[in-house]
Amino acid sequence: MPNTASRKRRGTTETVAAPSPSIAKILVCSSGKGGSGKTCLTRNLAVFAAHAGLRVATVDLDPQRGLTNWHAVRPEDAVVIPNVAVPLSDLQDAMRQARALGELDLIIVDTPPGVDASPAEMRQLLLMADYVLVPTGQGAGDLRSVTEWMAFIRREQRPSAFVLNLTVRSAGSFDRAKQRLIEAGDLCPFDIRLYESIRVSDEVGLGVAEMKGANGLSDIRGVFTFAMHAIGLKVPADD
Ligand SMILES: Nc1ncnc2c1ncn2[C@@H]1O[C@H](COP(=O)(O)OP(=O)(O)O)[C@@H](O)[C@H]1O
Ligand SMILES: [Mg+2]
Repeated sequence: MPNTASRKRRGTTETVAAPSPSIAKILVCSSGKGGSGKTCLTRNLAVFAAHAGLRVATVDLDPQRGLTNWHAVRPEDAVVIPNVAVPLSDLQDAMRQARALGELDLIIVDTPPGVDASPAEMRQLLLMADYVLVPTGQGAGDLRSVTEWMAFIRREQRPSAFVLNLTVRSAGSFDRAKQRLIEAGDLCPFDIRLYESIRVSDEVGLGVAEMKGANGLSDIRGVFTFAMHAIGLKVPADD
């Protein structure tokens, strides 16, 4: 049934379409490799989104619960970002719980390492995703694993991009990694450099956007802007 409402105008009553409740966009952070920055990307993009005025929640599908532990140590006065922690095998339940949190603009999903071990569940998750970010380090081992994972995502025809993380731009492997990644999929034009403050922010329950003077802020802002544009979300703070 169409979503309709009555509205009075100049003495007549006409039926017009009521604004439909917005459906949250689903951004999935996944890669075949542990330690590539899936959780780091999830929490930092969520913090950026929340501070930019988007209604954002996170979903932790990793049994190691790194994201949920980060939420647990967030300072009391930090902006609240709801989180749902559910096993990958209960994906439908995870999404039901996330949507029950209220009207949201964005749901960011953190996935377990070695996602290629559960291809059926991952395929299901990919089908729900509006966009997939695949973080990767610049080493040869990381690249091999994430390019295989990207091939899987592309077979499922999901829009996606690699994000180079933990980068050392001065190393020769940085340019070689970019070269290799653009041959295998889209590549976010912003990378996230290896910064101690990013690791520290993780331990104290913050995003770099919440830490005064933290390095990495411009890198993460770039990835956030790229991801919001790619997923088609207008950021209120940009108005
Ligand atoms: N750009 C970065 N600079 C410094 N440390 C980082 C960066 N990205 C991630 N880390 C740290 O590396 C470790 C692994 O990152 P994490 O996001 O947990 O990886 P994954 O979720 O893919 O297993 C964490 O301790 C995290 O804080
Ligand atoms: Mg993780």
